[in-house]
Amino acid sequence: MTERKLEGRVAIVTGAAGGLGGESARVMAGHGARLAITDINLEAAELTAAGIREQGGDAIAVGCDVSLEGDVKAMVAQVVEHYGRLDILHNNAAILSDEQRSKDLDIVNMDVEAWDRAMAVNLRGAMLCCKHSIPHMLKLQRGSIICSTSGFGVQGDMTLSAYAASKAGLIILCKSIAAQYGKQGVRANALHIGLAPAENAHGTMNPAVMDIIRQNHLTPDLGTPRQIADTVAFLASDEAGFVTGSTLVADGGFSSHAPSLVQVRELLAASGSNKI
Ligand SMILES: NC(=O)c1ccc[n+]([C@@H]2O[C@H](COP(=O)([O-])OP(=O)(O)OC[C@H]3O[C@@H](n4cnc5c(N)ncnc54)[C@H](O)[C@@H]3O)[C@@H](O)[C@H]2O)c1
Repeated sequence: MTERKLEGRVAIVTGAAGGLGGESARVMAGHGARLAITDINLEAAELTAAGIREQGGDAIAVGCDVSLEGDVKAMVAQVVEHYGRLDILHNNAAILSDEQRSKDLDIVNMDVEAWDRAMAVNLRGAMLCCKHSIPHMLKLQRGSIICSTSGFGVQGDMTLSAYAASKAGLIILCKSIAAQYGKQGVRANALHIGLAPAENAHGTMNPAVMDIIRQNHLTPDLGTPRQIADTVAFLASDEAGFVTGSTLVADGGFSSHAPSLVQVRELLAASGSNKI
C-alpha cells in the first residue's frame, strides 16, 4: 500500500459526520487528501473535521442535505472555492434512521413516503453530487467517484426494499458515469459493502439477525469501518487507475458462497467429517 497516495487531492465525502463516511474521510486525510466533511448534521460534521485537523490533516465541514439540488450545488461550490479543485467524491450518505427502517419494509407493507425518501437521499442525492462535481473533475481531466452500495442492492431480502432498490440504482449510476466521462479521466465505481458496523451504528439491529449475518460472512468476524475506508482510499487513488464502471465487493465473502454453506458447515461439524 502506497503511503499518502492521495497527496494534494481534494475529496468530498457525503454523510461523513460519523459511521463509515467519517472513517473514509479520516483514512483519505491520512493519505494526504484535503477533505470536505459534508452531512445533513453540520454540528457532527464539524466535530469530524476538527478531529482530522487535530491529527494534522486538512478538513472543512459543510452542511448539505444531498436530496436537495440547491444544497448540493452550494456545497460543491463552497468546496471548490475553498480548495480550488475537486478530485474525489465519495457518495456515502444514506438514510438509515430507525424511523426510516421501520417504514421501509416488504413491498405490500411499504410506506410510500419512505420509498420516496430512500430514493431521494440514497440515489438522487448521489446523482446530484455527481452532477455538480463532475464538471470540476473534467477541468482537471481526472476524478474518482465512489458510491457506497450494499448486498441489498444485488440480492433479494425480506425487508428494506426501498433501500435495496436505491442501492441497485447506484451500481448503474457508476457505470453510466464511467461510460460518459471515462475518456476524460473520470472513473466511477460502486463499493458493495458487507456488514461493517461503526461503534454507534445499527444499535437496534436484532442480535439474532446479526448472528445469522455473521455466520454467513466467510471472514472470522464482520467488517470494520477501517477495512471499508481502505477500499475507498484504494478506489480514490491512482492505484485503481484501471478500475472503472465496476463494483468492488468488500463483504467478507457474504455474497460468494453457496446458500447452503452455513447449514452444511454445521452438519459436517456435528458429524465430525468433511464427507458429504
Ligand atoms: N455500516 C454497514 O455495515 C453498511 C453496510 C452496507 C452498506 N453501507 C453503506 O455505507 C454508507 C454509510 O453507512 P453507515 O452505517 O455509516 O450509516 P450512518 O447512518 O452511520 O451514516 C449515514 C450518514 O448519512 C447522513 N445523512 C442522512 N441523510 C442525509 C442527507 N439527506 N444528506 C446528507 N447526509 C445525510 C447521516 O447524518 C449520517 O451521518 C451508507 O451508504 C450505507 O448504505 C453500510
